[in-house]
Amino acid sequence: MSCLPAWPYSPYIAHRNGGHLAPENTLAAMRVGAAHGFTMFEFDVKLSRDGIAFLLHDDTLDRCTDGHGPAGALDFGQIAQLDAGSWHSAGFAGEPPPSFAAIARFARANDLACNVEIKPCPGQEAETGAAVAQLCAHFWQDAAVPPLLSSFQESALAEARRVAPHMPRALLVDAIPADWAQRLAALEAVALNINHRDASAERVQAIHAAGYRVAAWTINEPGRARELLALGVDAIFTDNLAEIRPA
Ligand code: G3P
Ligand code: MG
Repeated sequence: MSCLPAWPYSPYIAHRNGGHLAPENTLAAMRVGAAHGFTMFEFDVKLSRDGIAFLLHDDTLDRCTDGHGPAGALDFGQIAQLDAGSWHSAGFAGEPPPSFAAIARFARANDLACNVEIKPCPGQEAETGAAVAQLCAHFWQDAAVPPLLSSFQESALAEARRVAPHMPRALLVDAIPADWAQRLAALEAVALNINHRDASAERVQAIHAAGYRVAAWTINEPGRARELLALGVDAIFTDNLAEIRPA
């Protein structure tokens, strides 16, 4: 067995900060996740038109805010005026899309670990990877536990590696590609973050044997979560914060 890279993270990761309990990718969601005992949070980061990093999953504003159109077509000052909470429930009405800076500040103040998923607007892969990695190096300078940077976009991770080589990286994949080991080696990644449908004992063992950690997304059924952790998966992402959570 190869020597595995450091993994100073909880095996339970709150997906999009608060899973299904709160509006995704908000600060309120991170507070809800922390109140449920989570110490590790995954969220999606992209750039506004004026280059400010903020949290949003989709390419467009429509599903998770009261705005419309491409997320990268507005300055952050305009995005910050939007309501990213009402779509979820009235209790979160008025919750704004947060800047990455605000989320990092809250995480650091409360000793919460982060998986920063670089989720670029189309065509901004390299620019977003570089900007987010640079911000991570700044926000987490001197931190005992660095954030884990991940992305489906290899060009974003390659830029992250260039500007902040010491920040740990994970390649996100939906279907595991045949050449996963070469891709991880090229990115000097520490982990492969896989769709849980692709997880099996043989695959987890093979990834570990090659010297990489493995995390699986997104598991909302408690029995499946137990199964994956028993297989040796290093972490699972969940939206079901009420039933799948740290002891
Ligand atoms: O990082 C795990 C998971 O968040 C990847 O998929 O679409 O939820 O960002 P998605
Ligand atoms: Mg994500």
